[in-house]
Amino acid sequence: MAIESTLLIVKPDGVRRGLVGEVIRRVEAKGLTIDAMRLYTIPREVAEEHYGEHREKPFFGELVDFITGGPVVIAKITGEDAITCWRTLMGPTNPVDAPPGSIRGDFATLIGENIAHGSDSPESAARELKLFFGE
Ligand code: RTP
Ligand code: MG
Repeated sequence: MAIESTLLIVKPDGVRRGLVGEVIRRVEAKGLTIDAMRLYTIPREVAEEHYGEHREKPFFGELVDFITGGPVVIAKITGEDAITCWRTLMGPTNPVDAPPGSIRGDFATLIGENIAHGSDSPESAARELKLFFGE
């Protein structure tokens, strides 16, 4: 157990569908704190850096096109085990496998349009928070 910070992104599909309030409501209800938050259109270079681990994957181009294809909401959220807590609130990557009650389980069906992003480790969180918030 430790106090952690993580990067939350409401992806373009979530913003387009008017789900920003619903996502943030769940984060606040869980007891996590919002330290910073803003609307942002991710530049292509930033998206390629953010998803650098997937550079060689067949879906990389589609992934970068999608995440840069409209405004997103980025936030720094903090709390006890925030990285895992936020991943659990989102549910598994593929919405087909995500249980009801999770964000991806409740609001998505497509793996490529799964509403939200969360850092997957302390190392990723530090790297991504620096990339998006410069800290
Ligand atoms: P994210 O980074 O967006 O929070 O998602 P994640 O950790 O749950 O999943 P990750 O493995 O990092 O994959 C990043 C995003 O790539 C898309 N994806 N498509 N077509 C495919 O097989 C496939 N696999 C992954 C998903 O939109 C996923 O969120
Ligand atoms: Mg990921």
